[in-house]
Amino acid sequence: MGDGQAKGRGIAGGLTNYGDPEFAAYLRRSFARSMGYSDEALARPIVGIANTYSGFNNCHRHFPELLEAVKRGVLMAGGLPVEFPTISLGEVFLNPTSLKFRNLMAMDTEEMIRAQPIDAVVLMGGCDKTVPAQLMAALSANVPTVQLVGGPMSTGRHRGERLGACTDCRRFWARYRASEIDAAEIEAVEGRLATTAGTCAVMGTASTMACIAETLGLALPRSAAIPAVHADRLRCAEESGRRAVELIGTQTLRPRQIVTEKAIENAWRVLLAISGSTNAVIHLTAVARRAGVKVDLDRLNRLSDETPVLVNLKPVGANYMEDFFAAGGVPAVLRELRDLLHLDALSVTGKTLGELIDAPLVEALDRGVIRSRAEPVDPDGGLVAVFGTLAPRGAIVKRAAAEKRLLEHEGRAVVFASLEDLAARIDDPDLDVEPDDVLVLQNAGPRSSAAMPEAGYLPIPRKLAARGVKDMVRISDARMSGTAYGAIVLHVAPEAAVGGPLALVRNGDRIRLSVSERRLDLLVGEAELAARRTARPPAVEVERRGYDKLYDSHVLQADEGVDFDFC
Ligand code: FES
Ligand code: MG
Repeated sequence: MGDGQAKGRGIAGGLTNYGDPEFAAYLRRSFARSMGYSDEALARPIVGIANTYSGFNNCHRHFPELLEAVKRGVLMAGGLPVEFPTISLGEVFLNPTSLKFRNLMAMDTEEMIRAQPIDAVVLMGGCDKTVPAQLMAALSANVPTVQLVGGPMSTGRHRGERLGACTDCRRFWARYRASEIDAAEIEAVEGRLATTAGTCAVMGTASTMACIAETLGLALPRSAAIPAVHADRLRCAEESGRRAVELIGTQTLRPRQIVTEKAIENAWRVLLAISGSTNAVIHLTAVARRAGVKVDLDRLNRLSDETPVLVNLKPVGANYMEDFFAAGGVPAVLRELRDLLHLDALSVTGKTLGELIDAPLVEALDRGVIRSRAEPVDPDGGLVAVFGTLAPRGAIVKRAAAEKRLLEHEGRAVVFASLEDLAARIDDPDLDVEPDDVLVLQNAGPRSSAAMPEAGYLPIPRKLAARGVKDMVRISDARMSGTAYGAIVLHVAPEAAVGGPLALVRNGDRIRLSVSERRLDLLVGEAELAARRTARPPAVEVERRGYDKLYDSHVLQADEGVDFDFC
């Protein structure tokens, strides 16, 4: 057993209330025996393992093997591993969008950690929403926790080039829309984009959240980037199980003792330096909220000004997660950021971030993938918040992923009132749209019927794509996939569905974006806006029930992490 002999409450922890505690313990032991456990097994501290394997989650298809490795680690350290299910969120198989269910998964996970006799827990996640949900749950339940991620997919091959979901999915789809490749080729590509177990192969939301979990200190050092199919991933799972047992003996390494304001600031730094997913802004805001730390987008902007982009990965750069792993992964990034980080932040290892940074790197540093501070990919952080008359509570721009000329831009609005309207008209040959226009999508925020899908990456209208237009300013209250790119303004708050100014934009209005000034303005007079506000028809009341009703009644705006107001 590790340091400080793990003495958990074991099977008798937190007894079911029958009004007679001895009867409850006897009954529980009896039912545990029905599963074939020996007295010796039942005397051990219990490590719960939240297994999110699901037939609807391709990214987690290797979890059975990973689970065995976690169990092995728990047993080696003297604990009893007990697997339990929670809901799993497979990104592309959920309707209307996986984000709507992130809070449900967080509640499920939190309550199961709390309700069951668990002394410590390993949370197995990976696909986009699963890790944020588990981190949120870990902070609320505050039981000793190790976060284990599934690891990224390996790349496929197509005509001599590497392919990885899902930046290349978009790149090839855009080429297909522009008639540069034919139906046979797009079908061949379809079979080569996602070919192994694991999460998307680029620095999308899943990889970004894995790097954040590692930086926050809840996942083991180096664990974020190990490929899903690599043997080290199994060793990392084993070590996660072992460490969970060891955590039971400590009194100082619960999630809320690890995820402090300092740890969260470190995570913002890493998010900026890896040029991570815009979705992570929402998730890290929600995680911080669960930790009782207020997030302020002005602070994000200050951090962004001081934190260079160091990682050259798709969707912004050239490489894949397998390259990031081989180049040193998160430990190598932390090393470069050393003077910007709070080095006294703790990790589940029991070591401080400073101590972890001082440890030798396992992989040899590769400067083609992880740059030095002296030669960054970009001197400024990848993400910024903008504010103005169109986004009083802020919006997010991934400046690293945009055509630079578009970051200072004024143009004429071309407005789509909903996703349905967008789908119906974006490719209409008669659509009145020019390359310098600003595409606006309304009613795709958290409270809309679409529930904030990854629709903020509006397609370039087909007739402009055919003319070679690759990027335009696009504004919405939606999100964007972490694997997408472009001059995209997202998460506009307040959203159109709750009457934010985004709802008042009309075709032909002038909109001005200035990333250097951190501004996003609708250049329409206040009197005209007031008239439009008055003329807006009242919102249609929709009959709701079940989770949909809970979600609609309690979900917060993007700047508050789209969490529930009661969580
Ligand atoms: Fe699961 Fe991309 S679909 S991480
Ligand atoms: Mg994604």
